[in-house]
Amino acid sequence: MKNIEFFLIILTTLIIFSQEQPYPVVLMHGIGANASTMNKVVEWIHELVGPDVYVKNVEIGNGYWDSMFNKMFDMVTDFCNQLKEDQELSKYPKINLIGYSQGSLITRGYVEYCNDPPVHNFITWSGPHEGVFGIPYVDWNWLDKLLREDCYIEEVQNSITFAQYWKDTLNYDVYLNKSIFLPYLNNEEKTKDPKIKQKIQSLNSFTLLMSTVDEVVNPKESAWFAFYDDKRENIIPYNQTLAYKEDWLGLRYLDENNRLNFYKTDCRHQDYPTDKCKDVFIEYTLPRLLN
Ligand SMILES: *[C@@H]1O[C@H](CO)[C@@H](O)[C@H](O)[C@H]1NC(C)=O
Ligand SMILES: *[C@@H]1O[C@H](CO)[C@@H](O)[C@H](O)[C@H]1NC(C)=O
Ligand SMILES: *[C@@H]1O[C@H](CO)[C@@H](O)[C@H](O)[C@H]1NC(C)=O
Repeated sequence: MKNIEFFLIILTTLIIFSQEQPYPVVLMHGIGANASTMNKVVEWIHELVGPDVYVKNVEIGNGYWDSMFNKMFDMVTDFCNQLKEDQELSKYPKINLIGYSQGSLITRGYVEYCNDPPVHNFITWSGPHEGVFGIPYVDWNWLDKLLREDCYIEEVQNSITFAQYWKDTLNYDVYLNKSIFLPYLNNEEKTKDPKIKQKIQSLNSFTLLMSTVDEVVNPKESAWFAFYDDKRENIIPYNQTLAYKEDWLGLRYLDENNRLNFYKTDCRHQDYPTDKCKDVFIEYTLPRLLN
């Protein structure tokens, strides 16, 4: 009898302890930037979650240039290795993960192909989840035309990151055949990889922030897995796509279990990790970091 009481005390202590201990937070920055752009976020987490929370602000290669001229899947592999080899992370059963802009795709690749250590809550800020089809805010038709013509050339695919998530819905078959990254990440190829779906389904929650004033991700709704139709005119909501109906990614499963959260923000794309958008961080991201 005494033994059982002792066991119960230990168990209760363990449960309380594990609930009070916030998971480490891992951050991945966006394109044309380095990890220092996320320094504010590290500060906010120490201020608002706890001074002792372990925060890993991941850098890949040299940051700035390597975030533009690289293979996306190589970056996913690098990210996976950095997390797996991290001694501090290995002390915890799970982590919380934040991906910003292009970093949303690298982190999602981590969840889908590695997830070791496993992710508890996954948050993305204006991530081009369904890709991009159009250049950012500048009205440069020549650049748009150039990209439409050249994005799927092998050399371009192998060297420029955003070409690997350029999705030409007017030539969807070409995209499926030639893009070396996004069709796989989104399980769009004919042969589906069941492991991807399982990994996404294992998330405690997946939170998608879309900026209503996004001038970078085109279309901005890509942050919610919505995208242009085959005329590049209207946006099709994710839950009206075959990908959702057949649940290629496990998002429908999360949705039906109230674990998929869609939020609109008024934070400009480039402002997420700055004081201008600290309130947005507090409202939508912070609650997910408290486990
Ligand atoms: C990161 O970017 C900042 C701002 O653009 C720059 O000042 C800094 O030198 C960069 N750091 C590295 C390690 O490249
Ligand atoms: C895509 O690849 C398949 C198989 O290799 C081929 O039959 C088809 O013509 C290609 N389609 C386009 C649009 O390139
Ligand atoms: C799709 O999502 C929207 C917004 O959350 C919701 O209003 C609508 O009912 C959903 N449609 C389907 C078919 O589930």
